[in-house]
Amino acid sequence: MAFQHKHILGIESLSREDIELILNTGDAFKEINGRDIKKVPTLRGKTIINAFFEASTRTRLSFEIAGKRLSADTVNISGSTSSVVKGETLEDTAKNIEAMAPDIIVIRHGHSGAPHYLAERLETCSVVNAGDGAHEHPSQALLDLMTMREHKGRIEGLEVAIVGDITHSRVARSNIYALSKMGARVRLAGPGTMLPPGIERLGNVEVCANLLDAIKDADVVMMLRIQLERQSQTLLPSLREYARFYGLNTENIKLAKEDAIVMHPGPMNRGVEISTYVADGIQNVILDQVANGVAVRMALLYLVSGVESMQTQ
Ligand code: CP
Repeated sequence: MAFQHKHILGIESLSREDIELILNTGDAFKEINGRDIKKVPTLRGKTIINAFFEASTRTRLSFEIAGKRLSADTVNISGSTSSVVKGETLEDTAKNIEAMAPDIIVIRHGHSGAPHYLAERLETCSVVNAGDGAHEHPSQALLDLMTMREHKGRIEGLEVAIVGDITHSRVARSNIYALSKMGARVRLAGPGTMLPPGIERLGNVEVCANLLDAIKDADVVMMLRIQLERQSQTLLPSLREYARFYGLNTENIKLAKEDAIVMHPGPMNRGVEISTYVADGIQNVILDQVANGVAVRMALLYLVSGVESMQTQ
C-alpha cells in the first residue's frame, strides 16, 4: 500500500492502514539503529528543517537523528534563536524557510493547529507535526503503539489506561485516536479538572472514576506528566495530593495485569505521577519508547518524502 499523505498533521486524519504501514516501516528501519554504521542513503539529497518553538529533548533529538540516519541534511531552528523574537510571524518565518527549498519541515509549536496553518500555506514542502499545543503529538502515539506491539505482540484488544492531565495532553489525544483505530480500548482517569467533557467521543474510550478503576486488569498503564506550564489556573490542590490519588506506585500497579507494561512519554515528574520504583521497575518500557521514537520518525520522514525505495543497505 502506498502512503498518500504529503503531511503528517495528526493521527485523526490517518487510517488504520496508514498506521499499520508506518509501524511496519518503523520496524524495518529499527534494525539500522543497532548497526555499527547507522546510516543508509534513503533520503540523500533531501533537506529537513526541525523548527521547534517549544522545549523538547526526545522529539527534537530523535527527528534529527532519524533524518541523519537516512542521510538527509538536517538543520535545526528554535523559537528563541530565530527572528520570531523580533516579531516575525509564523507564516513569514515558514515562507522564508521554504524559500531555501527544504523538503520537510518538522514543527513543534505551542499553538494548537500551527502545523495545519503552515501546511495550508506552504506550497512545496511537507509538514510534520512534532506536537501542537494541547492538540496532537502524532509521532509520540505512533512510537507508543510500536512499543506496545513489540511487548504485547498486538494492539487489537489491549486495555490501555491513560492517567493524568488529559485536558492538556496532546499525547493522550493522539493515543486515543490511534488506539481506537487499531482496536484497543482506552480507559482514562484524572482529576475532574483535568478531564475535558466529551473526551469519550474521540474514540473507544471509557472515563473512569479514579486511577484504581482505570488500571485494574489493564495491559498497558500510561502515565502523563502534569503540564503546569499549560495551566492558566490552579487545577489541583497540591502535588502531594495529586501523587496520593493519581500517582502510580508499587502498591497500585499490582491491580494491573501481572505482565502489564508501564509507559510514560517523558519528561517524568518522579514522585508525582509516577514513583521512582515504578519508573525504574521491571514493568517499565519507557526507554524502549524513546528508542522506538527514532525508528518511527525515520518511517515518517521516509513516507512523506515520496522516495520510492527504503534502501536499507
Ligand atoms: N515526549 C516528548 O514529546 O518529549 P519531549 O518534550 O522531550 O520532546
